[in-house]
Amino acid sequence: MYPKLYIESTKVVRVELSNILQKYSKELKLEKYVKVIDVGCGPGNITNDLLHTYLHNTKSLIGIDNSAEMIRYAQEHYGKNPNLKFQILDITTSHLPQALRNEFDLVTSFYCIHVESDIKKIFENMYAMLKPGGDLFVFIADNCFPINIWKNLAQNSKWKQYMNNFQETTFSLQRSTNFVQLDTNLLKEIGFNVNSCTKQEYQQSYDRKTFLDLMKSVHEFDIPKHLENDFILDHLDVLKSFNLINIDKDGQEQITILHDLIIVYANKSLET
Ligand SMILES: C[S@@+](CC[C@H](N)C(=O)[O-])C[C@H]1O[C@@H](n2cnc3c(N)ncnc32)[C@H](O)[C@@H]1O
Repeated sequence: MYPKLYIESTKVVRVELSNILQKYSKELKLEKYVKVIDVGCGPGNITNDLLHTYLHNTKSLIGIDNSAEMIRYAQEHYGKNPNLKFQILDITTSHLPQALRNEFDLVTSFYCIHVESDIKKIFENMYAMLKPGGDLFVFIADNCFPINIWKNLAQNSKWKQYMNNFQETTFSLQRSTNFVQLDTNLLKEIGFNVNSCTKQEYQQSYDRKTFLDLMKSVHEFDIPKHLENDFILDHLDVLKSFNLINIDKDGQEQITILHDLIIVYANKSLET
């Protein structure tokens, strides 16, 4: 994991996130949440932005992530604010700490849970974290391009041996095509009222360096350090085979990718 590289290479993603938050800001009533938890907070920059830009009445915002390196970075850079705390936690845990149960007015999670296999457990834990009447606002990357690239690389004899955790850690591949219906049913089964669950298509363009940095910062495979650059460069070969690299008017490579995002806005009933 490379927290700083992740922040630098995801500027375009932050624009997308902020546009969507603007769109939902009235519906969500962001001013009313006192206690909030952000699941899969990564390096903490988005969590920090959320607090300063939208959550003006929030007294406690906790960012959780299962990567010790991400949490260390978040604490070092944003942890001085007494209203902002970071802690290591795997959201798929079967032992959700008592201190995180029935505590939060809002649970957020951005671009995290697509890399996990047990989405039911994740939604159950999020439900348990919410106070009655609390809101859930989650982005799930779907048809997610790194996963499509990794699927290809995991069949390559050079990389297969280092990518054993690929099948178990990515649920997108195992899901049926009707994700929106699937997520809606799952959320209702757990007890959520589903206000909206929609799928939207986004297009993002990256220059070569930003794209390679992003790929380096998001993969979780045990690639030996001396082979890592080679591994990352092979991502470009896969993209070439998908015809996703264009040359712009200045002769520079441009990588344009379409991806889908499922946006969930749900709520835990007051009577539970
Ligand atoms: C693509 S990053 C998104 C970071 C941040 N939310 C953002 O929007 O920039 C996904 C994060 O989810 C974390 N993550 C993946 N699986 C997780 C799990 N089971 N529990 C908690 N965090 C997890 C990863 O460590 C990573 O930091």
